[in-house]
Amino acid sequence: MTRDSESVPDEELLADGGETAAEGADEVALDPWGSSTVSDYRKLFEEFGIEEFEEVLPEVPNPHYLMRRGVIFGHRDYRPVAEAMREDEPWAVLSGFMPTGDPHIGHKLVFDEIIWHQQQGGEAYGLIADLEAHSARGLTWDEIDEHSRDYLLSLLALGFDAEEGELYRQSDNRQLQDLAFELGIEANYSELQAIYGFDGETDVSHMQSVVTQMADILYPQLDEPKPTVIPVGPDQDPHIRLARDLATRMRFFKVSEAYASFEANDAERALLASAYETLVDLAEGETIRCVHAAQFLAHGADAVDFEADRPSVKVPDIDEKARASAVKKLQSAGMEPFRPRTRFFDRKATDEGFEALIDAIEGEKRVYEGHIDAFDLDREEAEALAREVEVDQGGYGFVMPSSIYHRFMTGLTGGKMSSSVPASHISLLDDPEDGYDKVKSATTGGRQSAEEQRELGGEADKCPVYELYAYLLAGDDDEFAKEVYDECVGGERLCGGCKEQAAELMKEFLEEHQEKREEAAELLDELDIDLDSDRKQV
Ligand code: TRP
Ligand code: SF4
Repeated sequence: MTRDSESVPDEELLADGGETAAEGADEVALDPWGSSTVSDYRKLFEEFGIEEFEEVLPEVPNPHYLMRRGVIFGHRDYRPVAEAMREDEPWAVLSGFMPTGDPHIGHKLVFDEIIWHQQQGGEAYGLIADLEAHSARGLTWDEIDEHSRDYLLSLLALGFDAEEGELYRQSDNRQLQDLAFELGIEANYSELQAIYGFDGETDVSHMQSVVTQMADILYPQLDEPKPTVIPVGPDQDPHIRLARDLATRMRFFKVSEAYASFEANDAERALLASAYETLVDLAEGETIRCVHAAQFLAHGADAVDFEADRPSVKVPDIDEKARASAVKKLQSAGMEPFRPRTRFFDRKATDEGFEALIDAIEGEKRVYEGHIDAFDLDREEAEALAREVEVDQGGYGFVMPSSIYHRFMTGLTGGKMSSSVPASHISLLDDPEDGYDKVKSATTGGRQSAEEQRELGGEADKCPVYELYAYLLAGDDDEFAKEVYDECVGGERLCGGCKEQAAELMKEFLEEHQEKREEAAELLDELDIDLDSDRKQV
């Protein structure tokens, strides 16, 4: 989730809203506790490999309005989640909140994301990152108790179903801490240093809060492996990447594709795959051997010495270095048959686990030291089998967690939304009249004068008030959001009236939300969650 800053007053809470370009901030830094700003969302795709949400959108049943409006702009590996949703297979959603201040309209995005996923059939989890707030932000346990309550009340008031889903505090969850301990064995200090910029001054508990978050992310899979989506702001992406790595490192077996007994890297494997594709056609039923593949990759189709006539096929020229090394490996494998297969590497299985996998593989297989080649299983079947055997053998069998990323909201005063600047954000606990006033005094994308506005239209794309409509006030009503946009850019809408309408809606939203919070108080009391920690105040 977004950073918060009660105890670090100068830090900004939220970065700018994309197109509304924060001046001078063209460096993309993704730092969960720092002052990362995102001036250009495209860089997140190019530099960090986050994928565009738009591309998976058609695969999502009844997408949420935040998805439809591009507020949720990116993802990692959301496909398996969407697929489980469609196929009615088990899957989960989880996000966490540092209880460092009041929950505000930025957090509401994440609350809504969790709730929507829950309504689509996901197992839902909401957690209070109190260990993180205590170690990384220095909040006292009294402060943490109070804020935790506020976060949970808003989450419940917005519709989280606590009977179906699970809410927990990191500090109070023994299973979580045990998992964190195990995951910590797979990560070392240099790695945390490289990812988070930790140094010799970083306290050990801060590091522990990182492995705790890793455990949060994998927690929904403790009962059984399942696709899990973590909705967060892009500042949390380093955590997501590390969690995906650790999930992989915990696995007993690694599955890959191969064509002969030797090992190949990804670039070489791509060449081998294309060689195979061409050679099956050329071979016309004859055994394809490694030498043939070597000849093909080195000199082209004409050089391959099968009996049959052959058309000339162009050798793919991807990567010269990979080609040279692949040819070398193929040559030394010589007359060994060149055949596609799936390969299981033994990563951390016991001898017994490795044996169990050998037994479980059906059809033709070849067992080597440390790996097994299977000839009658495709990649997907092999992955499923590896996971099944791992779980049978008492392992976790984690599926790599997925994530979705939402845009940061622009502050009402322009620039960043910051919890140290109350006028820049609206707290879910703000007095509705104050919420009204804050919207009324917000910066807009309006022109100098009404005449100019009528002539040129307003700049809705640069307007924090328009964002309020799109992210919150228009709710599920796309037509309304579009109407505001079109009227604005078409010059029919003037800022005074537009803000008045938004301010009214904000006031109504806050009134209603706060009523629901009161009703939720009873619900919260019934839940098994301790909001009165008996920890010493340190
Ligand atoms: N680190 C997150 C924040 O800064 C909070 C958090 C803890 C979290 N565990 C999580 C977020 C797991 C998503 C998933 O607010
Ligand atoms: Fe923003 Fe509304 Fe003014 Fe358009 S009319 S610039 S949306 S306040």
